[in-house]
Amino acid sequence: MTQEQNKERVLSGMRPTGALHLGHYVGVIKNWIELQKSYECFLFLADWHALTSNFDEIDMIKKSRIEYIRGWLASGIDVDKAIIYCQSAIPEILMLSQVFLCLTPPGWADRSPSWKDFQSNSNANNKLDNLGFYTYPILQAADIAIVRGNWVPVGEDQVPHVEIAREVIRKFNRLYKTNLPEPAPKLTATSKLAGIDGALKMSSSIGNVISLFEDEKSLQKKINKIKTDDKRQGVESPGDPNNCTVFSYHKVFSKAELCNEVDGLCRGAKLSCGECKSKLGKSMKEELLPISEKSRQISDKDCLEVLHEGNLKAGKIIKNEWNNLKEKIGF
Ligand code: TRP
Ligand code: SF4
Repeated sequence: MTQEQNKERVLSGMRPTGALHLGHYVGVIKNWIELQKSYECFLFLADWHALTSNFDEIDMIKKSRIEYIRGWLASGIDVDKAIIYCQSAIPEILMLSQVFLCLTPPGWADRSPSWKDFQSNSNANNKLDNLGFYTYPILQAADIAIVRGNWVPVGEDQVPHVEIAREVIRKFNRLYKTNLPEPAPKLTATSKLAGIDGALKMSSSIGNVISLFEDEKSLQKKINKIKTDDKRQGVESPGDPNNCTVFSYHKVFSKAELCNEVDGLCRGAKLSCGECKSKLGKSMKEELLPISEKSRQISDKDCLEVLHEGNLKAGKIIKNEWNNLKEKIGF
């Protein structure tokens, strides 16, 4: 056996729905870069999943697919370590999903946190009122099962999705005498990045984002807009870093030493918010400008080629697995 075959598999996807921003980078991509060091990673564009909420914006999804690949590559996802592919390029995923749908009582899908949110939120996006969105976790279960995924990196709020996947896979295994692994959630240590407006999450639909591809000038401009401690009365009065979005960014992008320094100076009214933001700018530029510069050297054609290669690699593994499963099902 080669070493690759001994490694446990991680499976993770992102829905290509708009611009890639620092929320994606901090919450997902950085984590993938760590995981690719020790696991066999299957990283994919969940474009069928994108369709559940953006079925009337196909051009946007297609554009995002390329942007996401560009961002992944520029950030350091390594095609020699991870397999990058596109969900819709490999139809066998949907075939397994169809079988999974037949094994899933609606009650299980009802437990999906995203569906529950949609049901209980009277301001929810009406577009989500569709069976594709309702059965989102079942397709996700097929994504995982078809590559025999062992680990799924998720945030706390997504754990129920993995639990639904485990149950569907267990039922499938029992019924068809297969031995698909039951996947486990890998809780991510990386934090959620707040929006520049101080909202809990960065989100394109709110418009409080910093793109992964900002140049030096536009990055500093965005940083200058990040919300500070609104209770602080000016430079002369002490601020509270725990009530400050700028400081939450320091915690993500600045070294511990600088964070401590800023914390002390702010509480002691010895640092203006403007200076604090220039310090943050320095930390962020150090990490992010190499990425945006690299992204400008990656053409659309490069992205499509990488994706094509990955689709072939993943496709081979997935088609083979589907053939095995199909035989077991006897269909
Ligand atoms: N739910 C993920 C998201 O919202 C995308 C996704 C689809 C996924 N299938 C997956 C993630 C399987 C992990 C495993 O971005
Ligand atoms: Fe926030 Fe920095 Fe201003 Fe303190 S000095 S309130 S941490 S921006």
